[in-house]
Amino acid sequence: MSGENKMATTEDRIVIRGLRDVAAAETRLSFVDPNGALYYLGYNIDDLVGRVIYAEIAYLLIHKKLPNKDELAEFKSNLISAMQLPDAIVESIKAAPKNCHPMDILRTEVSHLGEYDPEGYDLSRPANIRRATRLIAQVPAIVATIYRSRIDQTVPEPRKDFDLAKNFLYMFRGSPPDDNETAVIHQFMVLHADHGFNASTFAARVTASTNSDMYSAVTSAIGTLKGPLHGGASEKVMDMLDDINLEEEVEEYIQGMLDENKKIMGFGHRVYKTEDPRTKHLRGIVENLCHRERTLSLYNKCIKIEKIVYERKKIYPNVDFYAAVAMDALGVPKEYFTPFFASSRISGWVAHVIEQYEDAVLLRPSSKYVGEYGRPFIPIAQR
Ligand code: SDX
Repeated sequence: MSGENKMATTEDRIVIRGLRDVAAAETRLSFVDPNGALYYLGYNIDDLVGRVIYAEIAYLLIHKKLPNKDELAEFKSNLISAMQLPDAIVESIKAAPKNCHPMDILRTEVSHLGEYDPEGYDLSRPANIRRATRLIAQVPAIVATIYRSRIDQTVPEPRKDFDLAKNFLYMFRGSPPDDNETAVIHQFMVLHADHGFNASTFAARVTASTNSDMYSAVTSAIGTLKGPLHGGASEKVMDMLDDINLEEEVEEYIQGMLDENKKIMGFGHRVYKTEDPRTKHLRGIVENLCHRERTLSLYNKCIKIEKIVYERKKIYPNVDFYAAVAMDALGVPKEYFTPFFASSRISGWVAHVIEQYEDAVLLRPSSKYVGEYGRPFIPIAQR
């Protein structure tokens, strides 16, 4: 090419830190309304929670419509079949180091699953719908297997008379959940299924935008969800609640954290300008579990924390705050809180991956270069 190209500068580029309020693509899957509402494909979650089972929402996300009875029956059957993991995955989970975090094993084994995909590298839409369905079942099955292996217990076979969510809790704990616990796990998973372009979903979309496979995209998402600023917050909420021994200590503990400008886990949100619409449902779930002494004590601490944080910072609890207490009430150890979040959000992640494949555009932003220019090269002999 003749002549020197004039070097461009990025001085005029405006950086939107954290991509705050930047619309990176269009989506039909969910709308996070800053005024405190959440919609899954046009349905307000307030109209869904307690009235659908989780499998209906997973079906809605990947098929764009709520299933009729026959469609749901076939979908549930496919999900239960897929909960039977390949032997190599089960053996790999058993061989994992006992001291690593369950999210690290989940990240590894979803990636590992890609090596055993019965449809190989067929990225056609029908194959991706089937792959998405399998992953929606395999992620909770992996979480249950990690825990059972960790406590040296076998994983019960999924029961055909149970749906995915009930089987998940059954396989995780080794005993059938009662009706109240079954209702809780369904509401929990319905509330966690999808949430716009949150960090882990966006990570999955960036990976899918290069036409990489679904396992790679979900592995990206799992690594992203693990962070305490995102899905990892719920475990930190329980750390905080366990650290506050008595209800009487809440005021001093929380005021002290705020005086030191520390973030209170389970509070605040990038999008909502008012209370996270999922919080009222999760707070209600916890209230219904307060016949349990520990849950009542945790709930009383939470109510006090909510009041203090609002008075000081005018911010609200997000999905992770009461979700932590709800999972604790189900007997889930806190290091499995984020894996439980992932066991539902997998349905959102795979739906967004399929939508990104359809959008067919590489997600590659620019940047504002603020480094040096024109540095003279000095060979190592003179450096
Ligand atoms: C999830 O994006 C999603 O949709 C995520 C999620 C989903 O369903 O996928 O909703 C799930 O990840 C929920 C968020 C879980 N994370 C936490 O609970 C961690 C604690 N929260 C914060 O780190 C924070 O609120 C974020 C990360 C959630 C949002 O951060 P932003 O939008 O970057 O806001 P910010 O950190 O700039 O805070 C704005 C102001 C600051 O005050 P000033 O310094 O301007 O005076 O609000 C304050 C912050 O100090 N603030 C908090 C706070 N969160 C914000 N102060 C104390 N405790 C907090 N938790």
